[in-house]
Amino acid sequence: MDIQTVEKTLSVKEAIESRHSIRKFEQEDISKENLTEIFELVRLTPSAWNLQPWRFYVVTDHQLKEKLQDAAYGQKQVTSAPAVVLVYSDMEDVIANLPEVVHPGLSPERQQEEVANLSSFFAGMSIEERGQWGLTQTNIALGFLLTAIQGLGYASVPMLGFDHEKVKEILSLPEHVKFAAMVPFGRQAAEGYEHHRFPLEKIVTFH
Ligand SMILES: Cc1cc2nc3c(=O)[nH]c(=O)nc-3n(C[C@H](O)[C@H](O)[C@H](O)COP(=O)(O)O)c2cc1C
Repeated sequence: MDIQTVEKTLSVKEAIESRHSIRKFEQEDISKENLTEIFELVRLTPSAWNLQPWRFYVVTDHQLKEKLQDAAYGQKQVTSAPAVVLVYSDMEDVIANLPEVVHPGLSPERQQEEVANLSSFFAGMSIEERGQWGLTQTNIALGFLLTAIQGLGYASVPMLGFDHEKVKEILSLPEHVKFAAMVPFGRQAAEGYEHHRFPLEKIVTFH
């Protein structure tokens, strides 16, 4: 799908280098087109067996943002942002709809075989273990989301500092879902901190 709704996009290098956590945003709504464009990119995140366990709950309603801010121990970036995305994994939904994830190019026999294999693999895990497994994949989508937001001219801050049970209750999400992050985002209205990162020598081995 080729939708061009954002006038200027950053290169991947520009987006990654310019991204900082931003905690103050302009009071300007994000258009539905721009929101859609961001999630059209995030939708392309890869996952093991293509299971795509990530789900996104986008909150723009002010009263709901106030409740989320309370659940996030008062962190003010939540109501400052025009949009707040809850990024979460729902593996039980994936398991209940396994035929959806099997590639349509496979023969019907191969598709059935895939579904049976996946079913038996995940049947050997508890709901909690499946939730944790789904979270490993959903974190990949979180990385794509932060990069897409930045690349399309917005800024964000990923957050895990919130009461997860309270947020499930506020958004009426099932008990089994696992959050990768709460992500307030919008147009940047303050500077972030300078990047402070390990040098390559510490984190990369070349052999
Ligand atoms: C998973 C995750 C959870 C985070 N939780 C919070 C949070 O609850 N509140 C906050 O202000 N920043 C939070 N941060 C932001 C980090 O502090 C920030 O990403 C880190 O210090 C690096 O700075 P930078 O994002 O500006 O490069 C979180 C970041 C990540 C990736």
